[in-house]
Amino acid sequence: MPALVLLGAQWGDEGKGKATDLLGGSVDYVVRYQGGNNAGHTVVVGDQKYALHLLPSGILSPGCTPVIGNGVVVDPSVLLSELSGLNERGVDTSKLLLSGNAHIITPYNVTVDKVTERFLGKRKIGTTGRGIGPTYADKINRVGIRVQDLYDESILTQKVEAALDVKNQILTKLYNRRAIAVEQVVEELLAYADKLAPYVSDTVLVLNQALEEDKVVLFEGGQGTLLDIDHGTYPFVTSSNPTAGGACTGAGVGPTKISRVIGILKAYTTRVGAGPFPTELFDEDGEALRRIGGERGVTTGRDRRCGWFDAVIARYATRVNGLTDFFLTKLDVLTGWEQIPVCVAYEIDGKRVEELPYSQTDFHHAKPVYEMLPGWNEDISKAKTFGDLPKNAQAYVKALEEMSGAPISAIGVGPGRDETIEINSFI
Ligand code: GDP
Ligand code: IMO
Ligand code: MG
Repeated sequence: MPALVLLGAQWGDEGKGKATDLLGGSVDYVVRYQGGNNAGHTVVVGDQKYALHLLPSGILSPGCTPVIGNGVVVDPSVLLSELSGLNERGVDTSKLLLSGNAHIITPYNVTVDKVTERFLGKRKIGTTGRGIGPTYADKINRVGIRVQDLYDESILTQKVEAALDVKNQILTKLYNRRAIAVEQVVEELLAYADKLAPYVSDTVLVLNQALEEDKVVLFEGGQGTLLDIDHGTYPFVTSSNPTAGGACTGAGVGPTKISRVIGILKAYTTRVGAGPFPTELFDEDGEALRRIGGERGVTTGRDRRCGWFDAVIARYATRVNGLTDFFLTKLDVLTGWEQIPVCVAYEIDGKRVEELPYSQTDFHHAKPVYEMLPGWNEDISKAKTFGDLPKNAQAYVKALEEMSGAPISAIGVGPGRDETIEINSFI
C-alpha cells in the first residue's frame, strides 16, 4: 500500500499545505519529517483559512492521524499554542502523535539564531529566527534535548548544562550577551512535560506497523528542494533535508516502502530570505506576481521575492528526489499576461548550461535563458478538467511538464480544496 512523499520542488511556499489537505481525506496518517515552525502552510477549507507551522496539514481531515516525526525540531510553546488555536476553532487534535526522539527548540537556540544572524550582518541567511539551525546543530553536535528528556529531570538538567557550557561562553565573551541560567531553562522545559505527554509515542513503530497493515501514509515536507542542507543553494538553505530521502530518516521508514514522490511546483518561482535566484524579477511583473499571488510569508510576514518559472530547477528537483509526479500550483496567478517567459537553461560566463551547476560561484553567475510562451486572459479558477483550460494554458502546462521531467498529475487554480484539476489520481 502506498507511502507517498509530498515535498517542495523549489524554495518553499509552493502550496504543500493545500496539496496535503486535499489528500488528507484519503490517507490514514500525515507525517511531518523535518523542519519545524519555520514552515508556514496555508490551508483554505470553505471560508476558513488555517496557517499551520508545525502540525501536519492532515490535521484538518477528521479521519487522518497527524504525526510529528523524529526528524522534526519542535518548539513546545509553538506546538501547544497551535493546538489550542485549532481546538478553539473546533478542530479535534487529540490523535496527534509526537516522536519522543524529536529534538526540542529551546529558548537558547532561538537566541543563538537571532544573535548569529545579527552578527553575520550583510552575509546573513535571512532565517526565520525560530532557532531551527542552532537546534539541528546541537543535534549533530550531540548536545541536543529530545522530547523524551522532558520525562527525566536529572538527564534533562545534565543535557541543558552540557548544551549551555560552550554557548554561555560564546554569548558572554563573543556576543556580549548575558549568560543563560540552566535552572531557568530546565524549569521552563519541565512545565511542558505534562501537556505534551498525551501525544508522545514511538512514531517509528506506529508508522511501520501502519504500513504493514496496508494503511496509507503521506509524508509532508516543509521548505523545499533548493533549501535542502545537502542539495540546496548552500549556505542559503535551511538546516534539514526536505528532499525525499529526509522522509526516510526523519520518520524511520525505509526507502523500499515509498511508492510515490510528488513535487509541489509553483507555476512561477518565489523565495524568502537571502541567496541566489536566477529568474528573480525587480520590475512590474515581479510586483504583479507578488500582488496577484499574495506572496507574503506566512511565518515571518516578509514579502516573497518573485520570478518566472525555472525549468532547470524543476529538472533538478526531479533528479534529487526521484519525483514520480508534479502538482502544479497557482496557475491561475498567471492569467492576464500576453506572453509568459519560462527559463529553459542558464547562461554562465557566456556558455549555455542545461542543468543546475554544482558550483556556488557558477550558480551566482547564472543568467536565465528564456523561452516565451503565449498567455491567456480567461478566468481559469472554475476549471475542473484539463480540457476546461484555455488552449494556451494547456500548452503552458504541457511545456512545463516536458521541461521538468515528470508528469503533472494535478493543477491548482485557486487556494481552495476544490480549486484543483486532478489529472492522475495519487492514491
Ligand atoms: P506551503 O508552505 O508550500 O504550504 O505554501 P504556503 O501556504 O506558504 O503558500 C502558498 C499560498 O498559495 C497559500 O496562501 C495558499 O493558500 C495559496 N495557494 C495554494 N495553491 C494555490 C493555487 O493553486 N492558486 C492560488 N491562487 N493560490 C494557491
Ligand atoms: P515552507 O514549509 C520558504 C528559508 C528562510 C531562510 C532559510 C533558512 O512554508 O515552505 P531557517 O529559519 O529555516 O533557518 O531559514 O530558509 N525558509 C523558508 N522559505 N518557506 C519555508 O517553509 C521556509 N522555511 C525556511 O527564509 O532563507
Ligand atoms: Mg509556506
